[in-house]
Amino acid sequence: MKSASTDTASTRRDRDRAAAERLFPEYSGGRPLRRIVFSEAEIAARVEAMGEEIGAHYEPGADILLLGLLKGSFVFISDLARCIRRPIHVDFLVASSYGAGTTTSGDVKLLYDPCAPVEGRHLVVVEDIVDSGTTLNRLMGALAERGPASIEVCALLHKHVAEDLDWEPRWVGFDAPREFLVGYGLDHAEDFRHLPFIASLPAE
Ligand code: IMP
Ligand code: MG
Repeated sequence: MKSASTDTASTRRDRDRAAAERLFPEYSGGRPLRRIVFSEAEIAARVEAMGEEIGAHYEPGADILLLGLLKGSFVFISDLARCIRRPIHVDFLVASSYGAGTTTSGDVKLLYDPCAPVEGRHLVVVEDIVDSGTTLNRLMGALAERGPASIEVCALLHKHVAEDLDWEPRWVGFDAPREFLVGYGLDHAEDFRHLPFIASLPAE
């Protein structure tokens, strides 16, 4: 039997990922998985730390609006918001760029505009993953024109492939491998958003 002292962070991580791998067929209806990239426990620890950093970044009394980019950020923002222990408001934007494929079409459509007023407020745009950067480049310019006090981006995942990213995220959960990732809000043709962990799919 292993003693507590040999149960290191990396063995715990391997165990969490193996458990997620066993759960995957149940969640996916038997569809194949390439590998587990981040377990539920790894994500929870990182989101907690990001929530604390965001809360500490702004002056006391700052009027903070978390703006989640739907649909991909819906799980992340719900966990993140609960880790920011100060007054905030939450609203959403809907943009679409992928359709049913695994590469960006470059055609970003704004399908829903936030109801919340933006002028004079500190915006934190919450994104699931930064890939080509097309979505952020397009949306951030449009939001900046509405006169917020500040705008920052908080991305759970960053692939670091974007060559001309106008808005580098201030907060990044994890550097992402250059694989197509699903789970914790990320989808492939609307499947897999409900996985509590992040996995990659076999190449198409
Ligand atoms: P970008 O405009 O290429 O930066 O892509 C941003 C959006 O594409 C994200 O908000 C995601 O919804 C989606 N996306 C990018 N990469 C992935 C991925 O690996 N898995 C699932 N969705 C992705
Ligand atoms: Mg998507």
